[in-house]
Amino acid sequence: MVKIKQWMTKQDGLDYLMITEGEMPVPAEDEVLVEVRTVSLNYRDTEVVMGLYTHHKSVNSPPALVPCSDMCGVILAVGPSTSPGPLKVGDRVVSTFAPKHLTGQINAEMLDSGLGGPNPGVLTTHRVFPTYGLLKVPEYLTDEEVCTLPIASVTAWMSLNGMRPMGQAGGNGEVVLLQGTGGVSIAGLQIANAAGATTIITSSSDAKLAQAKALGATHTINYTTNPDWELEVLKITSNYGADIIFELGGARTLRKSFDCVAFGGLIDCVGYLSGKEDDPGDRLNANVLALRRNVTLKGILNGPKDRFDEMLGFYEEHGIRPAVDKVFSFEESKVALKYLFSGGHFGKVVVRVNE
Ligand SMILES: NC(=O)c1ccc[n+]([C@@H]2O[C@H](COP(=O)([O-])OP(=O)(O)OC[C@H]3O[C@@H](n4cnc5c(N)ncnc54)[C@H](OP(=O)(O)O)[C@@H]3O)[C@@H](O)[C@H]2O)c1
Repeated sequence: MVKIKQWMTKQDGLDYLMITEGEMPVPAEDEVLVEVRTVSLNYRDTEVVMGLYTHHKSVNSPPALVPCSDMCGVILAVGPSTSPGPLKVGDRVVSTFAPKHLTGQINAEMLDSGLGGPNPGVLTTHRVFPTYGLLKVPEYLTDEEVCTLPIASVTAWMSLNGMRPMGQAGGNGEVVLLQGTGGVSIAGLQIANAAGATTIITSSSDAKLAQAKALGATHTINYTTNPDWELEVLKITSNYGADIIFELGGARTLRKSFDCVAFGGLIDCVGYLSGKEDDPGDRLNANVLALRRNVTLKGILNGPKDRFDEMLGFYEEHGIRPAVDKVFSFEESKVALKYLFSGGHFGKVVVRVNE
């Protein structure tokens, strides 16, 4: 029997990730066997490995699992009686984060189909997928670029376009504010720039802000040297504010977002990089803050497969190439996850699994 290699976590910390051997999986009906080429890492993966991914009350991960959800690979075999569909052996494909989330609003059952918690993830040399959990990918993108798309780019796409109907993606002339220079933010920057938005991006690092400027950011703000960055957003926009805010910081940034959102604007609640709990003595009253500027506060949970497909068309049309910061080998996966957790990256961190 041919063996495969996979990383496993007992959700007890990045130091305790283990590389293990397993049996080559065999695809059943309506499944395919994929040779994983590349995997991109997400903040979520570090939380899962550290046992800190606990805010989705309905999602219960098993005690040990293969981490990570985002991969690009090639189909090696198709299960018996699998309907031909659009996929065949040799196709290069990308995974979707929650395979059962095909269209519309996500629900608990769809969220439960998530990869890398609660289901086995993709940091493995081979994996079986249901055919509905994969999309064919545009040829112009490298394997390293493709694997960055499922969580970071789809979440960014939904933050910008989720409130607009399918087929009516927009952003032209809007002011979009992006927090930090991680995966979601840089994907959002690229999409918003291509859509014709005015983009404002924040970072703790001037060097990263220079990289963002080179990628097309209209305005940049260092949130460490300029902690009142919300006032800077108002200044840049002549007091108008931002139409769409990618709220990635959470506890320590949301109040500031309420202060610099445009009247009638949208705050996308995506992340919690500055914490999941308010600081003592700084309890937010989201009710009053939201009514003050007639704000829409929208929780974002990745996006469905049909919107992913819509996004792929937009990427191809505009020739968008995701920003890959660093590529690690499969054996270096633990180092790669620690690097991501350190926050030193710009855009995405990738693991090359098979050549
Ligand atoms: N809801 C969803 O569907 C969804 C999907 C994807 C991600 N997320 C969440 O969104 C957040 C970002 O994810 P990611 O994968 O893009 O993370 P990431 O790539 O690890 O981003 C890390 C970067 O965020 C920036 N950052 C850290 N603290 C910040 C703060 N207080 N204010 C502004 N920026 C800060 C830093 O950028 P600088 O070095 O430039 O300062 C850091 O390098 C995470 O909380 C993640 O769990 C949610």
